[in-house]
Amino acid sequence: MFLGTTTAVLLGLLLHSTAGVWAKPRDTSKVLSIGVVLFPGFQPLDVVGPLDMIFLLSGGQNMTLSTIWRETGPIWARAPELAHPEAAPPPAEGTLPSTYPLVGPHIVATHTFSNAPKLDILLVPGGGGNVVLSENNDTVIEDFLVARFDELEYLISVCTGAVSLAKSGLLKGRNATTSKYAWSWVTQFGHGVKWTPNARWVEDGKVWTSSGVSSGLDMTYALFKKILGEKAVDVVVNAMEYTPHQNRHWDAFAVVHKVPGADTTRPLGDCVGPVGYDFKCARDIGKVH
Ligand SMILES: *[C@@H]1O[C@H](CO)[C@@H](O)[C@H](O)[C@H]1NC(C)=O
Ligand SMILES: *[C@@H]1O[C@H](CO)[C@@H](O)[C@H](O)[C@H]1NC(C)=O
Ligand SMILES: *[C@@H]1O[C@H](CO)[C@@H](O)[C@H](O)[C@H]1NC(C)=O
Repeated sequence: MFLGTTTAVLLGLLLHSTAGVWAKPRDTSKVLSIGVVLFPGFQPLDVVGPLDMIFLLSGGQNMTLSTIWRETGPIWARAPELAHPEAAPPPAEGTLPSTYPLVGPHIVATHTFSNAPKLDILLVPGGGGNVVLSENNDTVIEDFLVARFDELEYLISVCTGAVSLAKSGLLKGRNATTSKYAWSWVTQFGHGVKWTPNARWVEDGKVWTSSGVSSGLDMTYALFKKILGEKAVDVVVNAMEYTPHQNRHWDAFAVVHKVPGADTTRPLGDCVGPVGYDFKCARDIGKVH
């Protein structure tokens, strides 16, 4: 009896440390509280990519969603102008022509940093607005991350959202990754961060960071597979007709953007297809011209 209990406790501890806090699949009656940080100049897909998957998953799992910024109301994906745009370097060849895209959606912030509810998962997107916040020495996001870190089951970032995690000190001693396009800018921030150049996304305990924009979808797929179980998430991803990269060490964009330490010996292509199926790549059966 005693031995049995001890074994159960040890097993529980082991599962706790290796598989996260929840048994798999999660008890769907427990509401999962999702938070997404917004700021003027967020990258649309960093937010709506993961949210589309979460939106569909919430059909089978009770969830709440809080979108969070300093003020509630519509937040524009277009970044505010820099106070000293003349100080910004001119765009180099192969870079985006402007840091101020002229069109972009608004997303409504439902909560402020002061009234956001208790959160289980917090997503921090990237975007051009990160540069403006940084130039203004605005630490409102970092302060929020530090205040909420202990209550979170997972803190996740997409693209340059990793800047806020690095600046907050929460990446100290952790493996992390970020946009390969903005690699040299992001990796100047934070102390003791083990920046990982060849990674679609990185998992380090409860802190997960993904590479550029679209990689957030792959990280979200992997994360919810862990939280809700493969079956529930596969249905949703196949309904989206999305083919996730499932190997987090695959990273062609470290090579494309010439990131120091990029592994140039591996093939840049990754054979992706519908989840849950054994498939052949189209080129292998001569269907691609
Ligand atoms: C969501 O929670 C309600 C109670 O708050 C419960 O009746 C319902 O079954 C839950 N839905 C799922 C999918 O578990
Ligand atoms: C931000 O901090 C830097 C370094 O302390 C300082 O030089 C700069 O003027 C500050 N910028 C603003 C907008 O306060
Ligand atoms: C961090 O990266 C190193 C080197 O790739 C690896 O050995 C280690 O297991 C990683 N740590 C975690 C917590 O994933």
